[in-house]
Amino acid sequence: MRNKISITLAMLLIAGSIGAQTAEVADNGPGLTSILVGVNGILLIVAVFLLLTLSNAVQKLKAGSDGKEHLSWWDKFAALKSEKTEQELTLDENFDGITELDNPTPPWFNFIFYTTIIVGILYILHYHVLKSGSLQDAEYVEEVEIAKAKTAAYLAKAGNLIDESNVTLLTEKSEIEAGAKLYQEKCAVCHVNDGGGAVGPNLTDAYWLHGGDIQSIFKTIKYGVPAKGMIAWQNSFNGKQMQQLASFVKSLQGTTPAKPKEPQGELMQEGGAAAPVDSAAAKATALK
Ligand code: HEC
Repeated sequence: MRNKISITLAMLLIAGSIGAQTAEVADNGPGLTSILVGVNGILLIVAVFLLLTLSNAVQKLKAGSDGKEHLSWWDKFAALKSEKTEQELTLDENFDGITELDNPTPPWFNFIFYTTIIVGILYILHYHVLKSGSLQDAEYVEEVEIAKAKTAAYLAKAGNLIDESNVTLLTEKSEIEAGAKLYQEKCAVCHVNDGGGAVGPNLTDAYWLHGGDIQSIFKTIKYGVPAKGMIAWQNSFNGKQMQQLASFVKSLQGTTPAKPKEPQGELMQEGGAAAPVDSAAAKATALK
């Protein structure tokens, strides 16, 4: 019987793999192969079940012929009892013809029960003793980290779509604050926290060396003025960040810094147009 079962299983497996191969050749969609494999699996289970039932019947016939009880491993596992054994197991109590069987716990139940214990021990070892697996919280944090990295990668890409040709002034508070944060980190050393100026020029007045409109400020930040000590920031920030920085610098306009540096450059009218004033005259006006 065992031979018959293994031969049938082998044939089914071969048939299954042939089926899978044909499915690969005629792959019409991504789901087709998996559907075929799934159907194959179900057919396999059905076939095994039929085979076991058949073997069961054969065993019973044999049992009938030699009078002894033959139980297949499946019968034992499923705790199926012959009528004879059932009679032996019947308890003496009898209520209106209803009797009770003193059945031991079936092996299939014990199998599941002991499996849960083994799985439980492996689980504790894996997650709590060896700590080789991440617990839910850690898993959540990991996933959030991955998502953050993805978002950052996307934003870096999207951010670089902003350049001096299409940059616009940001006015939202959150954007200005983001710019202010970057400014405190990287720019305040030379331009002072409040924009009053030190090594770098005063960013709060209306006098600009390189233009005071958003595009010009963006360009100054991006390409810098290397000859004069203003770094090019294009490799440190993406377009979006430089837009936030430029917008923050614009927001400093008209504020009063603690120690304002004297104006440098040309007076810019609001709207970005340069007033026809040369820098010497500008200084003179500002110093009055
Ligand atoms: C190492 C010192 C230094 C740092 C750091 C620095 N700057 Fe400058 N910045 C300068 C100098 C010097 C100038 C003037 C360049 C010139 O004379 O042409 C300048 C000029 C500028 C100008 C043009 C001002 C004008 O009048 O046209 C802007 C805008 C500016 N910086 C913004 C920034 C921002 C934003 C950051 C931070 C990302 C920054 N700077 C970091 C030194 C610095």
